[in-house]
Parts: sequence; structure tokens; C-alpha cells
Amino acid sequence: MRDRLQAELHFPPGFLWGTATAAHQVEGGNRNNWSAWEALGGGRIFGDHVSGRACEWWDGRAEEDFARAASLHNNALRLSVEWSRIEPEPGRWDTAALERYRAMLDDLHARGLEPMVTLHHFTNPLWLEERGAWLDEETPRLFARFAAKVAEALGERVTLWCTINEPMVYAAQSYLIGHWPPAHRSLDETFRVAAQLVRGHAAAYRAIKAVRPAAQIGFAKHQMTVAPGTPLIGHLGAGLIHYLFNEAIFGPFNGRRLNFLVRSVSIPEARGTLDWIGLQYYAAQHIYLSRSPGARLPRLEMRAPEGRPRGPRDWGELAPEQILPRLKHLYRLVRQPIYVTEAGVPDPDDSLRPAYLARTLRAVWQACMHNYPVRGFFFWSLVDNFEWAEGYDPRYRFGLYGVDFQTQERTERRSARLYRAVCAANALTAAIVREHAPEAFDVIFPTPQPVE
Ligand code: FCB
Repeated sequence: MRDRLQAELHFPPGFLWGTATAAHQVEGGNRNNWSAWEALGGGRIFGDHVSGRACEWWDGRAEEDFARAASLHNNALRLSVEWSRIEPEPGRWDTAALERYRAMLDDLHARGLEPMVTLHHFTNPLWLEERGAWLDEETPRLFARFAAKVAEALGERVTLWCTINEPMVYAAQSYLIGHWPPAHRSLDETFRVAAQLVRGHAAAYRAIKAVRPAAQIGFAKHQMTVAPGTPLIGHLGAGLIHYLFNEAIFGPFNGRRLNFLVRSVSIPEARGTLDWIGLQYYAAQHIYLSRSPGARLPRLEMRAPEGRPRGPRDWGELAPEQILPRLKHLYRLVRQPIYVTEAGVPDPDDSLRPAYLARTLRAVWQACMHNYPVRGFFFWSLVDNFEWAEGYDPRYRFGLYGVDFQTQERTERRSARLYRAVCAANALTAAIVREHAPEAFDVIFPTPQPVE
């Protein structure tokens, strides 16, 4: 019998290995709804940080970082194009911006990295924000026009398109919780924005296919593990949040209504507009009924249970193996090929990341072995970057490479060496885990227990 020191968990041939990035978080110098929000200060963003130069991708450093991705034996990379750069005013297209993206895509191909291009990753052009962004009735059509333009200009270089990143996160953060611009708090608007994003996806899908019939188009969906904290109400709350956040949006893709319980709408044009679906998984949230001092009514609270490994603030429990049930559940909802379009962990000193990554990959491998059609894995992220409302809060460092934002210096982390070895082997092996994440070895390759 081969002992566990020789174990090798092989991924399917042709599996895509990459990292995920987003324009506003790395490019620097953007002018969009986020940069306007950052400029307001007033504690909206940690330390009143502004994205500023970010990782200086726009001004030439993208290529340096693509070289790092290639050094990791990656064969793919997920990046987004910034709508506000390409269409700075309604209907005016900036050819120099398209040229810059073309150069970036050419560089990726030259290094053997297949691009996955996201069209909307949380940011909107200011002119769109001023007319109500996704609340405006015209926005799905305007988004499709933008998608068609990008597909015409860049489509020879791109097969994998991701229309929208995390529609439910965008809708909830911007229109329900109010942490992100435009910081509204309205159930009605949250519902309307979610519906508009589904329409926007469907319209963009058709617009891209009209220009590039061979394009493979999906969107990226954040799926949370939601578990009950307190009995009864915690169970009810977890069931409700699981349905509303993880499931509801897929109704129209299966010929049903977009049903948010208190409101529902039919979006028939969404049916048949997914060639694949992107899974983004980060944490497990437990639902408690809690009453803050002085408050009259108790409320539902999401957090990690005491004593469990957790991320900063309200990040939730770090439970990498939970990616497997999330993946199986997503497959049951969509029945299309899956790319893991994001998974990662905030970890400034890289003490958790290697084990987190290795355990995540073991779970993804299990899904492959159970014949779930998982086609690739994009780790969040290649380099540290601007983390939305957390700004450059040092607790929210996600990169395989650390970035010193004063000097732009990159530092390779231990987790980068782990990922490099896995991608080169197209396998997670015992030797790799022992060398690069020994703390995860017994979890990933447990000692066989004698049968009683
Ligand atoms: C995801 C976002 C991504 C990044 C990671 C940490 O929800 O898509 O932009 O902020 O979280």
C-alpha cells in the first residue's frame, strides 16, 4: 500500500490555475463612484484611505505582476476592465484605454496565461452613478452596449467572460447595509438592483455572443455558509439568509421568478444565459439572535462562534473545507461548469494562508473526484490590494505577494511557493504540503484509522 507520504491528489488535465484581481483594487488612478466615495472621507473607509496609486497596474506594473503569476506556473488570470476608463462619458469610447487593456491581454497570452475578463466588479462610471446606477431602468441596456464594445475591441484575445462580480454583495453592501456607495438602506432598492443586475447579465450575455459566438460567459457568485448560532430563531434566520443570499438569484436562470419572498418578478430573458458559473467562497457565518445594550428589540447578528478560527471584525469563521458543500449546492442550482473565481483569506503575516489554501484545494479536488465539473481555480489574490471599505487596513492583506504601498515593492510569501508547486504539478501532493504547509499535513492526509 502506498503510504500517505506518497499521496498525490491530481487535478483534471487542462485545469485552469490562476489568481483573481479587480481593476479598481490594483490599477490606480481610477475616477469612478468609488474614487468619489473615497474622496469624501468622514470614516467611510478605514483610516479615510483612498485607493490612490493602488498597485500601479495602469501605469505599467501589471506586466511585472503577470510575470510573477507566470512564475507561479499559472496558466490563467482573472482581471477586470474598468467601465469608467473605457466609456468616460456616455457613448464616448476611449481608444487609448482599450489599447492599454489590449496590451495587458497580449502580455498575458505571451506568458501563457489565459485571461478571464470581468466587466463589472463593483465600480460604476460617475455618469452612471449620477443617474442612479443600477436603479436606473436603462442601465442593463447601457451595460450591454459597453459589453459589446469591449467584446469587439478585445474579444479576439478573450474566451472567458464574467459579466458581473458578486451581484448580491453589491446589492446588499450598497443598498441594504449601506457600507458602500451610494450607502442607501432600502429593502425595495436592494431587490430592484438585484433584478437589474440579472437583466444586465442577460443583456450582456446576448450582446457578447452576437459579437463573439465562441465566448464562454458566466458571472461570479459569492456563496456563504450560513449556520444557526442560537437555536430556533438562529435556524430560521440562517435558512432565510441562505435562501435570499445564496439561492434566490438563480430562479430566473431556471425559468422561475426572481423571488425575494416579499417581492418577486419574472425575468424570462435570463434563461439559458449561463455557460458557466463562478463560485466565490470566503467564510462561514453563524446567525445569532442578540440584543445590544439599550436596544428595545433583539436582532439577527452574523459572526463566528467563540473559539473558532475567524477573520478580522465581522469576516466570519475561516472554514476552508466548507467550499465543498458550497460548490455542490451551486452546481445543483445551475448545472453548468464551475470555476472557483475567488477564494482566499485576509492574513498579513501569511501564517494562515498556506494551510488555508492547501485545505481549500483538497476540498476542490474532492469535488473533481466526485465528478463535479470544476474547470479552474482563481485564488484571491495575486498581490495585496485596495480592499474596498477596509482600504489599506493592514489586516486585510490577501496577496500571494505582499505589497509595500509606499515603495511598490513586492515580497513573495510562503503561500506563493505552495501555489507554485501545486500549479506546476497540477496536483496537491504530500511532498508539497509537507514542504510548504506542514501545519495542514495531518488534516489533508490523515493517518488511516484501524477498523474496529
Ligand atoms: C470579494 C471581492 C473582491 C475582494 C475579496 C476579498 O468579495 O469580490 O473584490 O474584495 O472579496
